[in-house]
Amino acid sequence: MTSSPSENAFTLARPKDAPLDPPPLYAELRAEQPVTRVSLWEGRLSPWLVTRWEDARAVLGSPAFSVDFSLPGAPNFMEGAQQGPPGFFQNHDDPVHSVMRRTLTREFMVKRINALRPAIARLTDELLGSLTGREGPADFVEHFALPLPSLVICELLGVPYEDHGFFQQHSKVIVDLTATAGEVRRAQQALSAYLLELVQAKRKTPGDDVITRLAAQADEGVITDQDAADLSAFLLFAGHETTANMIALGTITLLHHPDQIPYLLGEQKQVANAVEELLRHISIVHGGMRRTAVEDVTIGGVTISAGEGVIVPIHVANRDPEFFTAPDDVDLARANARMHLAFGYGVHQCLGQPLARAELQIVLPELFRRLPRLKIAVPMEDIAFKEDTVVYGVRELPVTW
Ligand code: HEM
Repeated sequence: MTSSPSENAFTLARPKDAPLDPPPLYAELRAEQPVTRVSLWEGRLSPWLVTRWEDARAVLGSPAFSVDFSLPGAPNFMEGAQQGPPGFFQNHDDPVHSVMRRTLTREFMVKRINALRPAIARLTDELLGSLTGREGPADFVEHFALPLPSLVICELLGVPYEDHGFFQQHSKVIVDLTATAGEVRRAQQALSAYLLELVQAKRKTPGDDVITRLAAQADEGVITDQDAADLSAFLLFAGHETTANMIALGTITLLHHPDQIPYLLGEQKQVANAVEELLRHISIVHGGMRRTAVEDVTIGGVTISAGEGVIVPIHVANRDPEFFTAPDDVDLARANARMHLAFGYGVHQCLGQPLARAELQIVLPELFRRLPRLKIAVPMEDIAFKEDTVVYGVRELPVTW
């Protein structure tokens, strides 16, 4: 039996023996109290938690909810969180959101991203070559899962990869749930200051890259230089932690379900479906989508009043048995895998999804083709999972091959 709504604490803790599954409390809530109040900031805020797939989609697709951090009832991770600049448009409503997002939509069109596939394949090949050139065991995160998306986003943006130590450090702080609001703001500002210099440098030495094209949009008066820098900082950060963690957790998941690997090594259609199922099953953004109602709205039969916060844990909605049959199984051939909410849903749905898909579709089959004897070098209970970050993942993953 679940506890009464007022007693439900929202917890991110997972049982040690099932690090790839959401905590069982969520399944109980989804079955018995799918729209329920939870407690945040030691009880000072009690937003709603929405756990069913259908209700989650209803919230994320509804104009009755705002993403604005600065609204009084906003269920932010930390009390006192401040709205980022317009370039960090994930937490802005229209008109700022659509103006900022529009400056980048062409960059992430499937056709343009597909043109990057040969470069992604080349980088995958080089990194696997350098990993296997080492003596095992080696850390898969440090030598493969993190550098791959980092190199790709640097190439796309036109950022020198030599500076990766600097921007990876700041990206980590932005998703760290133990960081203070001030630390997060300073990390965002450090990234933006670095990118402002780069925006200005690209005017003198243009390249075939996103930052050069954002600088041109600033010249045309569509955005300011500061917006161009903030947009680039946001992409640099968004392109890192997400795909890197998905590569690492996808690899762990596949190593735990070796019977599924032949499907992943099949034709392109299979590869694409396999990636969707891994996205669904893992749904790395475990911190939940955070929204505030701007008008009264009914979700799952419950009235949410204007001003109240809502948390949508998409990794829980993606395990809803009413929508996905045997949702805890990993079934790479699952017919409706693509209906997952791992990239969100609605106007804020992930802009980078064609890029993330291209990377995962290239990297995962190539990894298992090249390293058929790939193994995790430590017992599962010794793997350090990231329990205190918005994006779930592993800190290190020692492997042999
Ligand atoms: C597997 C990898 C990824 C996952 C699972 C993921 C997941 C998400 C999710 C769930 C959201 C929605 C947030 C919300 O509704 O509040 C989002 C938004 C976003 N993502 Fe991703 N993401 C991934 C990779 C990327 C990459 C590679 C980029 C860019 C290079 C990127 C850029 C963005 C941007 C710009 C937004 C904000 C969209 C908006 O508010 O309009 N993401 N992502």
